[in-house]
Amino acid sequence: MAIEIIRTVSIISGMGVLLAAVLTLAERFLLNYGICKIIINKDREIEVKGGNHLLGSLIQNDIFIPSACGGRGSCGLCKVKVLSGGGPLLPTETPYLTKEEQENNVRLSCQVKVREDIEIEIPEELFNIREYTTRVEKIEELTHDIKTLTLRFLNGEEMDFRPGQYVQIKVPKYGKNTEEVYRAYSIASSASRKDSIQLIIRRVPEGICTTYIFDYLKEGDLLDLNGAYGDFYLRDTDREIIYIAGGSGLAPIKSMLHQMEEEGISRKATFFFGCVGKRDLYYIDEMKAFEGKIPNFKFVPALSGAGENEGWDGETGLITEVVDRYIKDGSNMEAYLCGSPGMIDACIKVLYNKGVTDDRIFYDKF
Ligand SMILES: Cc1cc2nc3c(=O)[nH]c(=O)nc-3n(C[C@H](O)[C@H](O)[C@H](O)COP(=O)(O)OP(=O)(O)OC[C@H]3O[C@@H](n4cnc5c(N)ncnc54)[C@H](O)[C@@H]3O)c2cc1C
Ligand code: FES
Repeated sequence: MAIEIIRTVSIISGMGVLLAAVLTLAERFLLNYGICKIIINKDREIEVKGGNHLLGSLIQNDIFIPSACGGRGSCGLCKVKVLSGGGPLLPTETPYLTKEEQENNVRLSCQVKVREDIEIEIPEELFNIREYTTRVEKIEELTHDIKTLTLRFLNGEEMDFRPGQYVQIKVPKYGKNTEEVYRAYSIASSASRKDSIQLIIRRVPEGICTTYIFDYLKEGDLLDLNGAYGDFYLRDTDREIIYIAGGSGLAPIKSMLHQMEEEGISRKATFFFGCVGKRDLYYIDEMKAFEGKIPNFKFVPALSGAGENEGWDGETGLITEVVDRYIKDGSNMEAYLCGSPGMIDACIKVLYNKGVTDDRIFYDKF
């Protein structure tokens, strides 16, 4: 009986996969959608070859929508409002769209296909985002799995950005990677330095972009990127600031600390930096040095791993525990978090318990 059920389920699943493959091939080779119009914000119009995804069609026309996962439908950043012509909402989109967004025709542009004329709305500031070519000026190893890249814009070009924002690197075809993909990286350098930027990148095993950066990219190579994106930036208030980061999440916080130093911002601020072991620590001297340059700033690195950290006399424990010990009353605090989704979600819970309200917590998860 059980075997028969398994066999029936397998046959049905197999037929489903076969049908999907036939439909994809039929769409690619038999259907011709001709040239379609994309009407943007009611006043711009571009013509594109029908049958491709909206995100790619926009990028081909130098309109850059945030797309940290390179169009795989797993980052949820590529949202645009589709007023007409986008077809029905797909199951791949719903996990990333709130009920309100769904009611307001917000869609993931990497999932929507342009099969007819389509009318969309995007924030005006996205028209300022450009593609740049950079030269890799310097690659430095910071830890066993983190490197920093210094990228200089070519031809005297400059990029304006807000500390905390990120760029998207275009990874070329290499090795087994057969298509260009984009990945997001936060800018770690000061926004007053416009002719080059610094990125801090952690290797993800088997990751397309990080394998390229760690195993293929060399000093002197050219690297394309676009930006700057994001609304993770220091709000102009007088509240006390809590920064929390793990791993390469230090990058945007470092840029914000440069801003505090250069603009003479003297709000009370504490930076909690969580790592597992001593081998994961980096830029400790640079962060500590900010204590002498930013009035009322304190740097608190903490190690969560037990055992291999002999000689460490700093804070220990999970970063959530350290933050819990330090903060007594968060009712006049503002928090900026950057790191893994697990770390951020756990820290947000601690911050809520301390009285930091939702509208004062800002983060970039990656
Ligand atoms: C706004 C934003 C800013 C970012 N800034 C930075 C930054 O400053 N520094 C930085 O190092 N990264 C940053 N990231 C993450 C970065 O964009 C890539 O997702 C990451 O480098 C992995 O890319 P990849 O192509 O090497 O791996 P992929 O080929 O995308 O992934 C390979 C596999 O690893 C998994 N995976 C993907 N990301 C991670 C991860 N972080 N940890 C564990 N497994 C993962 C995937 O699910 C997949 O199975 C940022 C992301 C966002 C959204
Ligand atoms: S680009 Fe990541 S979800 Fe669309």
